[in-house]
Amino acid sequence: MKPLRIALTKGRLESKTLDLFDQMGLDTSVVRNKGRRLILPVGDSIEVVLAKAADVITYVEHGVCDLGVVGKDTITEAGGSFYELLDLGFGKCRFALAAPKDKEFFGGYATKTIASKYPNVTAAYFAKKNMDVRIIKIEGSVELAPLLDLADGIVDIVETGSTLKENGLEVVEEVMPISARLIANTAALKLRKAEIEALLDQFEKLL
Ligand code: PRP
Repeated sequence: MKPLRIALTKGRLESKTLDLFDQMGLDTSVVRNKGRRLILPVGDSIEVVLAKAADVITYVEHGVCDLGVVGKDTITEAGGSFYELLDLGFGKCRFALAAPKDKEFFGGYATKTIASKYPNVTAAYFAKKNMDVRIIKIEGSVELAPLLDLADGIVDIVETGSTLKENGLEVVEEVMPISARLIANTAALKLRKAEIEALLDQFEKLL
């Protein structure tokens, strides 16, 4: 039987997932000493694929990976057709609207400009508030945009809040909570039901 293939978001979600595999008694030594390899075995039953968050969804959607571990932030931004099986409880942070501390964000009548790495999340949030905004896509360190006077505010991930604080910004409103999710390809869920359910069971027991 070929191993279940699971795409992990490289970095912190990867290492938290490996910790869970260790607790299940699986052998993660090959992944932990991976060098630059991107596809690695975990015991005999699992094969791990290391990818960037949005690509985890792409590989799972296309069925080349059966399962994936990815943040709710990427899921909400990218969408797609797959099953979200489980909230893994780690990688906790939140989406928030933030703005310079010394300004009243909701003051004035002019259309606001919002910078974000997550334009879809931003658009949905302001649509729900019935507020017309201009959205500018930024690839990283979004906090720069209001500091450089490109934007009135940002919609970004906040974890400890230190990046905001150290750059004179503050949370105006929480948008939504985020954590890591286990996702599955829809066909794999039928074809490899027993194996996926067994793994899901083990995850659930540890959480
Ligand atoms: C994320 C996020 C914030 C920061 C929040 O950025 O975009 O900038 O972390 O964390 P904090 O509340 O604990 O300070 P990341 O480090 O992923 O880099 P990026 O901004 O380049 O995407």
